[in-house]
Amino acid sequence: MGLLSFSLLVFWMLETVAAQPKTEPREVDAINKIIDHWNVRSKLNISVDDPCTPNATWAPQTANPRIACHCSDTVCHITHLKIYALDISGEIPQELFLLTELTDLNLNQNVLNGSIPPAIGQLSKMEYLAVGINNFTGPVPAELGNLTKLLSLSIGSNNLQGTLPAQLGKLTSLQQLYIDSSGVSGPIPQELSNLKSLQILWASDNRFTGKIPEFLGTFTNLKVLRLEGTNLNGPIPSSFAALTKLEDLRISDLGPSDSSLDFLQNLLSLSILSLRNCGIRGQIPDRLSTLPNLKILDLSFNKLTGRIPASLKNSPSLQYLYLGSNNLDGDLPSDVITSSLVALDVSFNPLTGNVPLDRKHISINVVGTSINDVNLNNEKASGMLHCLQGNTECRTKDPSTSFSINSGGTEQASADGIRFDDDSEQLGAASLYTSTNNRWAVSSTGVFISNPNGPQYTAQTDSQITSTLSSELYKTARISPSSLRYYGLGLENGVYRVKLHFAEIQMMDDPTSWKALGRRLFDVYIQGEKVVQDFDIVKEAGGSKRALMKTFEANVTNTVMDIHLLWAGKGTCCIPFQSTYGPLVSAIHVSQVSEYKDSSKSNQKRVGKILGISMGCAAGVVIICSVLYLWRAKKEAAHMRIHSGKD
Ligand SMILES: *[C@@H]1O[C@H](CO)[C@@H](O)[C@H](O)[C@H]1NC(C)=O
Ligand SMILES: *[C@@H]1O[C@H](CO)[C@@H](O)[C@H](O)[C@H]1NC(C)=O
Ligand SMILES: *[C@@H]1O[C@H](CO)[C@@H](O)[C@H](O)[C@H]1NC(C)=O
Ligand SMILES: *[C@@H]1O[C@H](CO)[C@@H](O)[C@H](O)[C@H]1NC(C)=O
Ligand SMILES: *[C@@H]1O[C@H](CO)[C@@H](O)[C@H](O)[C@H]1NC(C)=O
Ligand SMILES: *[C@@H]1O[C@H](CO)[C@@H](O)[C@H](O)[C@H]1NC(C)=O
Repeated sequence: MGLLSFSLLVFWMLETVAAQPKTEPREVDAINKIIDHWNVRSKLNISVDDPCTPNATWAPQTANPRIACHCSDTVCHITHLKIYALDISGEIPQELFLLTELTDLNLNQNVLNGSIPPAIGQLSKMEYLAVGINNFTGPVPAELGNLTKLLSLSIGSNNLQGTLPAQLGKLTSLQQLYIDSSGVSGPIPQELSNLKSLQILWASDNRFTGKIPEFLGTFTNLKVLRLEGTNLNGPIPSSFAALTKLEDLRISDLGPSDSSLDFLQNLLSLSILSLRNCGIRGQIPDRLSTLPNLKILDLSFNKLTGRIPASLKNSPSLQYLYLGSNNLDGDLPSDVITSSLVALDVSFNPLTGNVPLDRKHISINVVGTSINDVNLNNEKASGMLHCLQGNTECRTKDPSTSFSINSGGTEQASADGIRFDDDSEQLGAASLYTSTNNRWAVSSTGVFISNPNGPQYTAQTDSQITSTLSSELYKTARISPSSLRYYGLGLENGVYRVKLHFAEIQMMDDPTSWKALGRRLFDVYIQGEKVVQDFDIVKEAGGSKRALMKTFEANVTNTVMDIHLLWAGKGTCCIPFQSTYGPLVSAIHVSQVSEYKDSSKSNQKRVGKILGISMGCAAGVVIICSVLYLWRAKKEAAHMRIHSGKD
């Protein structure tokens, strides 16, 4: 966010110095009490006598803490107060409400607690109010609705309770509203339909009830709308067709109701369009390829049918295309893979065709399709992956009964002597990597849209991990902004024990820092069955940098084990840095418990059903794949994203 007042410069110019006007004594007294209450005097160097001293070191826009004033000929008032990301703690002191001329209050990214006092409604000149990323509890005070001059309100990433008050509908000047991960729940009040000036609305990760409000479609100034992981029901209202200024639209994980993409007809400004798991039916409109700025298109986990439009090849800005887990069929239009495309995920669709030979610049995921990828230089593993489709019975000559992976790290033995394979390969935004021993594969799809550290799909720490004798195992992890999927390959059919090792290593564990306020939540599926929902490692392990092992039992009926870690839009987005969310796993150990007793056909059918795909030529594809593989064998492919090591 980091949203700062642009009106500030104006105030500075207005400030007069000639007559040295006095600051209102009541405000001098109050600000000094506030400074001591939050213990920031040593960081401020402030003059106790006059916080509005001309050209003070604490007054420039970049100062932090910052106090800035507006002076008339006779008197100065404090108008700006910023104490940003300095880990001040405790509650908001009553003295704050004596600074009645405040127009800009920024307390973002601290560990303030208690409730947001109703007296905040007395600061009626406020234009920019930011108390996001703190530890506030209690209700959202209805009195916020009295701040009718507000242009920006940020209360996201807190532990607030209850519903959004209807009085917020009085904030008709509001341009930016950040309420993501705030803790609010329940229905979205109809009164919010008055917020017609909104340009940015972040509302993801709240437990709202009801449908996506129709009235959002009347906010015709909206540029950014985030509604991921909210519990809201679909459909995406057709009224959204009027949101022609939208640049960034992210909605995910809607309740059961079908949506269509018809509303996109005139949304020509879109740059990011992410509609994951929204129950979208129908075909991908050709229209999308005409959007001049569209860079990221994610329509995965929907019910899309028909062909992938070949016209997407004309899309001028498209870099990331995610269409996984739909019902798209026909041949992959190979010229969709343009030179500007960075990642393409078409996994788990009944698609056919070929990936063109020369596609080294891009990461592609075609698992769970009948697409033949001749670039996949690990013929054996790719053949085994076809068993995922479940409609041909797979057998392996030399079946294995276990596999172990040190996710995101190098080969490592645990304290109890299990050897965990190297899984340190750098993956891209739609990658598949098959292990050198052909025992497993990993796929990662998704792009961390605003990660300041660039694309990273592994995490590591130097810190010691507690609650385990195998600390090293947990010092690395794979992370993913969307879907992280491990496949055990060539397994003997039977009953297996799946041990998943977790330790949170990105979020801090320091109760005195805002960096410890993050929440990571994701879901775990094994063999297509959801075994954990809203999994929160820190909560279950009792802190970050603490090891946690979860054990499950699952049956292998067609030689493959599918362990799927999936982000469903929940958790905080940006603590301790932008794009900190989604699944994380430290290590995986899978071993057979017993041979499979029940070999009835129904089990085999179930595998196919879980994957939601129907195909008729998996075995044939393996053969074609092998032939093409041999034909291509001369060409080196070592640096490709899909990579198999020594094979
Ligand atoms: C605070 O003031 C002292 C002396 O008045 C000065 O040396 C120091 O640099 C100042 N610190 C800041 C952060 O302005
Ligand atoms: C404050 O700064 C302005 C411009 O930098 C300068 O003109 C003015 O004299 C300064 N005032 C004082 C009291 O130092
Ligand atoms: C707020 O945090 C302080 C420690 O910083 C603690 O002493 C106090 O009890 C907390 N207050 C509330 C209302 O949770
Ligand atoms: C502020 O809002 C509250 C609740 O919405 C209301 O009861 C109160 O009268 C308002 N105060 C002022 C000064 O407008
Ligand atoms: C936030 O508040 C909770 C109690 O409500 C407390 O357990 C936790 O330690 C606090 N977090 C931080 C980072 O202060
Ligand atoms: C695995 O198969 C056995 C029958 O062999 C069945 O009793 C058991 O419920 C299955 N387990 C799972 C997790 O599906």
